Amino acid sequence: MSTWAVLAAAGSGERLGSDRPKAFARLGELPLLAESLRRLEDSDWIDSIVVVAPADWEEPAILLAEELGAGKVAGVVTGGATRAASVRAGVAEVPADAVVILVHDAARPVLPEEVVERVLAPLAEGWDGVVPALPVADTVKRVRGDEVVETLAREELVAAQTPQAFLADVLRRAVEGGEASDCAALVERAGGRVKVVEGDRRLLKVTTGADLELVQSWL
Ligand code: C5P
Repeated sequence: MSTWAVLAAAGSGERLGSDRPKAFARLGELPLLAESLRRLEDSDWIDSIVVVAPADWEEPAILLAEELGAGKVAGVVTGGATRAASVRAGVAEVPADAVVILVHDAARPVLPEEVVERVLAPLAEGWDGVVPALPVADTVKRVRGDEVVETLAREELVAAQTPQAFLADVLRRAVEGGEASDCAALVERAGGRVKVVEGDRRLLKVTTGADLELVQSWL
């Protein structure tokens, strides 16, 4: 049973205020992308990796993989205008005999091995997909302009993170289904059953310079 990872690193990261794409912003000595790439390389659960790089950053991504000795990297592909388009490009590079695809955001550099294990296990129990998530601390409201339309029941809400794991065939079909801010939404839309497992605070998505400093302090 082969498990492939698609590492989505093609975002622009404008809110970081850097002169380069977010995945290539500095985290210590190396680009942000290096941390999650190294962790996927070192994971006992991952066989091969596809990196989805921003246009014109494919070569630096290949050189980084070489520098890290990341021999599991089977391909570097060019991302699209949206996350869903980027994931679609990455999934298209995964060979037909892959059984499981794990999709991870390079913007979440601290990827604990136990979360990888936690999202993969339920796929053997009949689930189509698995997402790590955390409870929501704030009360979440649906708004239109500045008017509250609805207040959602907090005990039913979680905040979804990555890595998200899927049966490969299910994800292949789901990524043809248009746009969404995560892969699980595409699988849900296609009628797939998605399980929620416990996420991890260290899987913070780096958005601002302050996030970058926080993640740096954990490493
Ligand atoms: O934009 P967002 O914060 O949702 O990005 C989450 C992840 O998706 C990041 O790792 C980013 O590099 C990736 N992404 C991508 N292609 C895009 C937009 C985002 O690979 N067009």
